[in-house]
Amino acid sequence: MSSRLPVSKKLVDYAPADFLISSLELHFKLDDSRTRVIATSNVKQINPAATELLLDGVDLTLIRLEIEGHPQIRYQKSESGLRIINPPAQFVLTIETEIDPVNNSSLEGLYKSAGTFCTQCEAEGFRKITYFPDRPDVLTKYEVVIEADKAHYPFLLSNGNKIGEGDLADGRHWVKWQDPFNKPCYLFALVAGDFDLLEDQFVTCSGKTVKLQLFVDKGNASKGHHALQSLKKAMSWDEQTYGLEYDLDIYMIVAVDFFNMGAMENKGLNVFNSKFVLADSASATDEDYFNIESVIAHEYFHNWTGNRVTCRDWFQLSLKEGLTVFRDQQFSSDMASAAINRINNVKVIREHQFAEDASPMAHPIRPESVIEMNNFYTVTVYNKGAEVISMLHKLLGKQGFRRGMDLYFQRHDGQAVTCDDFVDAMADANQQDLSVFKRWYSQSGTPHLSVDANYDQNQRSLQLTLSQVTPPTADQKNKQPLHIPVDIELLDDKGEGIKALANNAAHQVINLTIPSLELEIACPVKPAAISVLREFSAPVRVKFDQTDQQLAHIMLHASDEFSRWDAGQQLLNRHILQAVQHSSANEVGQLSAKSLQQLELSMQGILSDHQIDRALQAEMLDIPSFETLAQLTENIQVEGLLKAKKCIEHHLACALEQQWHQHYLANSTDAYQYNQTDVAKRRMKNICLRYLILANEDRYADLAYQQYQQADNMTDTLGVLRACQDGAIAAFDELMNDFEQRWQNDPLVMDKWFALQANATRPDILSRLELLKEHAGFSIRNPNRVRALIGTFAFYNTQGMHNIDGSGYRWLTDQLQELDRLNPQVAARLITPLLQYQRYDQVRQDLIRNQLLRLANMSNLSSDLYEKVSKSLVE
Ligand code: TRP
Ligand code: ZN
Repeated sequence: MSSRLPVSKKLVDYAPADFLISSLELHFKLDDSRTRVIATSNVKQINPAATELLLDGVDLTLIRLEIEGHPQIRYQKSESGLRIINPPAQFVLTIETEIDPVNNSSLEGLYKSAGTFCTQCEAEGFRKITYFPDRPDVLTKYEVVIEADKAHYPFLLSNGNKIGEGDLADGRHWVKWQDPFNKPCYLFALVAGDFDLLEDQFVTCSGKTVKLQLFVDKGNASKGHHALQSLKKAMSWDEQTYGLEYDLDIYMIVAVDFFNMGAMENKGLNVFNSKFVLADSASATDEDYFNIESVIAHEYFHNWTGNRVTCRDWFQLSLKEGLTVFRDQQFSSDMASAAINRINNVKVIREHQFAEDASPMAHPIRPESVIEMNNFYTVTVYNKGAEVISMLHKLLGKQGFRRGMDLYFQRHDGQAVTCDDFVDAMADANQQDLSVFKRWYSQSGTPHLSVDANYDQNQRSLQLTLSQVTPPTADQKNKQPLHIPVDIELLDDKGEGIKALANNAAHQVINLTIPSLELEIACPVKPAAISVLREFSAPVRVKFDQTDQQLAHIMLHASDEFSRWDAGQQLLNRHILQAVQHSSANEVGQLSAKSLQQLELSMQGILSDHQIDRALQAEMLDIPSFETLAQLTENIQVEGLLKAKKCIEHHLACALEQQWHQHYLANSTDAYQYNQTDVAKRRMKNICLRYLILANEDRYADLAYQQYQQADNMTDTLGVLRACQDGAIAAFDELMNDFEQRWQNDPLVMDKWFALQANATRPDILSRLELLKEHAGFSIRNPNRVRALIGTFAFYNTQGMHNIDGSGYRWLTDQLQELDRLNPQVAARLITPLLQYQRYDQVRQDLIRNQLLRLANMSNLSSDLYEKVSKSLVE
């Protein structure tokens, strides 16, 4: 950031570009510190009133600027770009710039990741490569020549097809690429390096053979197979589900070690964080296998939802991200357990998205005002965006949704469009009025849905009242009623569905579009329990007074597995929160005997259910996270919540010790395989192990040790370390040292080790963290390392981070100051735990505020941190 304060851009100010670029040739002469880029574009004026051509450019050295081959002098240069004054109506523009990839620690634009040159242009990184209208509605065709030293960089890659190559003097060589599709510059990519190459192919539904290439660091070839398999699954799923076929002859994926996010969908040349590519059974967990499949699919799906049809402006980001997350979630549900998937997606919404709504950074899925676009790659845009698409899917049905998708591509292939265009296609294809529904795009915040049910025995009638209200958020005071699909099921006392709803079904989606809706439902018997918001049919909080018995009934009998899990969690939450709220000062966080008994009984029920799906069973036995519990209270009571959680875990561990042991033994697996059955068994086994260690560390130490020694996979290895994490420090340290010896040369595995260290409950945690920052495997410039060590502490080590002496806050702020100079995007993500300070007690509020003020007073604060800090400090 310069000396000027960053300013915000607004959606209402959108205007189409004045000039279009009909083609672009890029010539790269790669060099560590002095890379030359020659950009030659054909420019054409489309707004006759325009008098200037605006080109974005940041951190560039301008070497040459020519129009039609003649040096151009009528231009103005600033820190953010160039304005060319009174250019001709149509002309060839040649710009030569010099850039410094090796010193680009922001990992945006062209940079070096270990020995590899690579690019990251989304959202606004292309302007760090050359002067160009860096906006997604300027689409053009690219031809790219890359030249570099041949021995160090045998592979020179860019988008599309390779159309030429040759050798040069001094051991250099060149390759020329051509992308036949129009694209915005954020989808441009270049990679140069030396790799192991895995090759495969995919025959599309129309019989075209596509070459698949996966580039990984030398020596990692054996860890690329799962990613390639996942890619082929995604390609055929998209053909079968949406009739979408791949459109180039080649699809390349490169794995790099230094990457700000998960992966990037550059046309024909995805660049991935190596964390979402590399896996083998010894070093990757079940979760890693799952994530790789889902991220590979996500980026592949972008080829249609993002690349073929792209965003008009960055306010429309959810057009591609919400939709693509929805598609990858659908895919994952088809590949593995739909219920477990749904549960995990809902956890993300409740733990992180609801928190964002409650924070100073609250925004609708289509933001209206942005200072730094990188700050809007959020759980709101991505995950709430996917929930909004999921509601459309629910409203229109599978076939109706497909009709809408078909019409969307028919109308908009090759265009840069808006969220409204998408919803219009859905509405028109189904002759529906979605105007109220569209408010989900412009309104921020978490709606509260209240449910009230009364049964009239004489009339045999159920009166159901659904009402909604969305509390004000930091960005928006006044809220309107939304279109909320509420999926409900009526259960009788035997747990059977009562077929009293529309079409004689036991469940139905009720469309709530007004503040309050009253329904009279003819119902032969009084429902023993009503399950509301089946499948989490809308991203809302529900308020519905139900007894413990009713929740337990839903938990055992609802037809929807998500609802069963949810009822169980509500039961747990309720008793934990009661313990926090109703305890006297000297028994903070102690659950009453009655509560403990109730919970024990319900856990016992889950443990002895022989019909239940094992994955669901494991999920139901897991205690809600601190973050989930914190989201349910107005004021986060750190000590009380931690104690209550501990109290109940400890009680359940001891009371059900026999069962944990039995289930532990019953869930052993053979040689590692990544399949649903074994994944569920390992999950169950490791949950049991954790309870056993909690119940009696000494009695089960051998069991844990044995599992650690015998494990042939990372899930079981980590299961032991996690179970022992809060136990006796010496034993844990011993295992951790062994682990470190074994894995010190595998950075992705060491991230798990750093994360475990950062999450440890110990009084000397901050001095430990300082030591770990000096560890040979740590680097402050590598985002994966930073997230593992600093991120895990800030987000998950409640005890250390929220220490009442303020030391955690101060330490994190020190790290943010250091990081902001190197990589503002990463710094701006790690500040999240400080943003919601108003929700803590007064002492903590003051402590956090002081740290935010420290950041605000920094010289040269990045626009990324500036936006978040300044919004947080507004009263
Ligand atoms: N479009 C990418 C995705 O969703 C996100 C992404 C990758 C990104 N790298 C980025 C966003 C850097 C901002 C900055 O898959
Ligand atoms: Zn995406």
